[in-house]
Amino acid sequence: MMKKQSILIIGSDKGLGLGLTEAYLEKGWNVFATHLPDADTSPLFALKEAYPDSLTTGEVDVTEESHIGPLIARCSERRFDIIFMVAGIYGPLHQSLLQASDAEFQQIMMTNAFGPARLARYLLPFLACEGTLVFMSSHRASIGGNTEPGIGLDLYRASKVALNMLARCIYMDMKPGEHTVLSIHPGWAATAMGTLDGAVEAEIEVKTSVNGMVDVIELHRNDKEHLFLDYENNIWPW
Ligand SMILES: NC(=O)c1ccc[n+]([C@@H]2O[C@H](COP(=O)([O-])OP(=O)(O)OC[C@H]3O[C@@H](n4cnc5c(N)ncnc54)[C@H](OP(=O)(O)O)[C@@H]3O)[C@@H](O)[C@H]2O)c1
Repeated sequence: MMKKQSILIIGSDKGLGLGLTEAYLEKGWNVFATHLPDADTSPLFALKEAYPDSLTTGEVDVTEESHIGPLIARCSERRFDIIFMVAGIYGPLHQSLLQASDAEFQQIMMTNAFGPARLARYLLPFLACEGTLVFMSSHRASIGGNTEPGIGLDLYRASKVALNMLARCIYMDMKPGEHTVLSIHPGWAATAMGTLDGAVEAEIEVKTSVNGMVDVIELHRNDKEHLFLDYENNIWPW
């Protein structure tokens, strides 16, 4: 019998992380899904009732160094075919370099860049041979793609650019041909973040984004490169 494939999803209690958790469970994978300690876990635990043998849950705040050890201890016997760093925040609504406080900039950089990259680095020993590490990026991280005046999003863009670079640094530290690293833009999806908590309309549903990402990851799992692409398999300029 073929071994069940497995994925670790960091940030899975709602939005795209929850959608990815459900999609991989439906595909018959083992899923280790993490959430913040104080998250509303009811949707995740409903999935656990439906898939008691395939879904494991754990807690981690990517900004907390002290959470790394306990998570690693729970991973020690596991090898993941995919590790997907999903967690992220939009940051302050103003998004402005002029208005941002030191604390606002620190929080978005910690949550979207340093936190997930550091945790991913610690989790590498648990990535299976030829496994794939995926970071949830955004097309807003594309410096080449930032040609629209007046859109702003300074803080969010900066944090995801930093995440892309840290992903590249992790990739460059790997043995050539060992793993694939993907920085993926999920599309503008109807989540709490994508709709700014219901204030704006997103372009696509969570399912469209998730199904697209699952297919794109499958297509590129053996590329042994670091790619910046989106849920429709378009390559984005760095
Ligand atoms: N939706 C879009 O249109 C869009 C577009 C481009 C990129 N993205 C990226 O996609 C990812 C998922 O976003 P989403 O749209 O699904 O938003 P979401 O519904 O707001 O979900 C964000 C997830 O990240 C978790 N999280 C936040 N801070 C965390 C921390 N310090 N440690 C661990 N987990 C943390 C949240 O936990 P709580 O629920 O407990 O707060 C939640 O599970 C993000 O990285 C986002 O930047 C989204």
